[in-house]
Order: sequence, then C-alpha cells, then structure tokens
Amino acid sequence: MQRLAWVGRTGPTGGFDDEVYYLPMLRDYSLQPAEVPVHTPAFLSDARRNALKADIKRLLEERDAVLVAHYYVDGDIQDLADETGGCVADSLEMARFGRDHPATTLIVSGVRFMGETAKILSPEKRVFMPTLEAECSLDLGCPPDEFKAFCEANPDRTVVVYANTSVAVKALSDWVVTSSVGLKIVEHLAAKGEKILWAPDKHLGNFIRTKTGADMLLWSGACVVHEEFKFKALEDIKQVYPDAGVLVHPESPAAVIDIADRVGSTSQIIQAARELPHDTFIVATDRGIFHKLRKSAPGKRFIEAPTAGDGAMCRSCAHCPWMAMNELEALAATLESSDNEIHVDPAVGARAMKPLQRMLEFP
Ligand code: 13P
Ligand code: SF4
Repeated sequence: MQRLAWVGRTGPTGGFDDEVYYLPMLRDYSLQPAEVPVHTPAFLSDARRNALKADIKRLLEERDAVLVAHYYVDGDIQDLADETGGCVADSLEMARFGRDHPATTLIVSGVRFMGETAKILSPEKRVFMPTLEAECSLDLGCPPDEFKAFCEANPDRTVVVYANTSVAVKALSDWVVTSSVGLKIVEHLAAKGEKILWAPDKHLGNFIRTKTGADMLLWSGACVVHEEFKFKALEDIKQVYPDAGVLVHPESPAAVIDIADRVGSTSQIIQAARELPHDTFIVATDRGIFHKLRKSAPGKRFIEAPTAGDGAMCRSCAHCPWMAMNELEALAATLESSDNEIHVDPAVGARAMKPLQRMLEFP
C-alpha cells in the first residue's frame, strides 16, 4: 500500500496546525462541518432542574439502575451520578464500573459507543442512554465495511482500535484501547515485535506511534472537538499566562500535544490538575471536564485552550455536540419511559467482547 511521507515537523512529536501524518492512501475520514450537528441545550430554571433531579433519583432507585456518566456531560448529571452511587469517569473506568456494578440496569450518559461498550461487557443487563442520537465523529468516521477492507489489505498487522468505535469495528479488532491505556498496550505489543494497524484517531495514533516507536499504520479519523485546538493560539495564551500548566487530551493535534505539561485521558487530566504544582492550567479537551476539574482541584484556575473559534458551530467551541445532547430532561424521560435502550447483536457483541476484555485484563 502506498503511503504519504511525513511533512512539516517542528518538534519531537509536533508539527504545524496543518499536520500530515504518515497515513496510507485512504480517504480522509474527518467529518465535514455539515455532518456535525449543532446542539444547544434547553435553559432550565433552578426549580425545574431540582424537580428533575429529584425525579431521576427516585426513578434510579425504582428501576434498580445506576448512572454511569462521562466528564463531558452536563454538570447536573455528573453530580447526580456522584450522589446516587454511580460514577463519573473516563471511558475505561466507565466500562469497568458498568461491568462490575451489581445493578440490573445501567444508564449510560455519554455517547453511543460508551453505551454499547457497557452492553457488550454486560449482555445480561439492560443498558439505556438519555438519547440514542449521541454519536462520536471517530465512530462515524470508521465505517465497518471500509475498515474491514483495510484490515484485509494488511493481514500481517495486529489490529488495535480505539474504544470510540462501533461494535462491528471492535469485533474486527485484536485489541480495544482507550486513551488511558493505549500507549502502554502498544508499547507491550511493539516489544513483542508486532506491527500495528491503528484506527480511527490519527492524532492519538500518531502520539502513540511517536512515543513508542511502534510500526503503526494509521486510519485517518479525527475528533471534531480536539482537532480544533490550535497550536499558535495556544502559544499566544501561554505568553499571557507564562506560569500556567498545559493539560492536553491526546486526540489533539501533535503540535498542541508538544507543548503540554501532561498528556492523558480525561481522568488523567483531572489527576494531573491535582498533582502538578501550577495554580493555573490551560486545558485542551472538551469543556465539560471543567465541572469536575473545579471540584477536584479547588482554588486552581482553569482556562479553555483556544479553538478555531470563529463561527457559531459546536465544533468551534470545545464542546462535543453529541455529549451536549445528554440533558436532564432527556435522562428523566428515558427513566420514565424505558425508551432508548441499547441493543447489540449477541454474536457481534461476543466477538467485540474479547478485545475489550484483553484491555480490561491488561496489567
Ligand atoms: P476518555 O477515555 O479520555 O474519557 O476519552 C473519551 C473521549 O471521547 C474523549 O473525547
Ligand atoms: Fe467523540 Fe470527540 Fe465527542 Fe469524544 S469529544 S465523544 S472523541 S466527538
């Protein structure tokens, strides 16, 4: 398979804002602006929010259900998860928590791959989400048929896919990884001499490839939120706050990763904010995380890393439009109606479970 060459590198892993990685001659699987929804959450009065929260607490108990939420969703939903014995976590911890919790029903507040992962790992539980429309650009940018052809064209490679993928894509893989363990797992595979086929996030793949030196063939997908963080604008902000630490999610472009004090999953970013000595942090990830950051590191100041920022589109505002669909009213309605249940084909789910379990069992 022909490949593009590296261009435009400036640092150890970095490049310019327009990066070209070592990619196979695949089409670009980044979503076009028109493919990304614009979602504006409804405004709720305090009285309405409190009433909804009380309803949700009651319904969770009545349904023997536990709430498993991601850091990017509405702050009220995160608080509800914490207050009712659920969890707010990164995608790896969400998967583990859902699998291990004794409740018969899981309510997953996040995006669809998170609900599907919960169902794959616990086929006997009922899994619901506040909406079934909460997609992920990485998942959408990795159609199973085209990915299957890519795997078949490279049969000598170990297939490692990011958790942000469909059940069908996971079922084609040898390993599923999340951003918190991807680096360690690829390091382990590379040490055994394995060559990797990686999908779908080219930025995370490039970060892991650069750190580990592994032979990795990258799919060319991207996250619509993280792809928007801009290296030059971040450098400008650094001049205003020279003592600020920079925390970056590895779905961001390499040039942004290059100037980070810590690169990691959402949980690892929160941990870094607690551990590092800085009083101020510039944070390059979805701004939903600020709710937990402020609670976890009170007294510290958090500043949003700059995005393209010129337009009224979700993709220019550092907030995932699909995560934003997780609203209190939608969550209450799901619990009330038992709509929005996640179903996974048992045969495909069983195939997807193996690479997921490999990740969860990885020491
Ligand atoms: P984490 O696993 O770090 O929570 O990432 C999930 C995600 O979708 C980030 O955009
Ligand atoms: Fe997917 Fe990006 Fe949204 Fe995370 S922030 S769910 S990677 S689109």
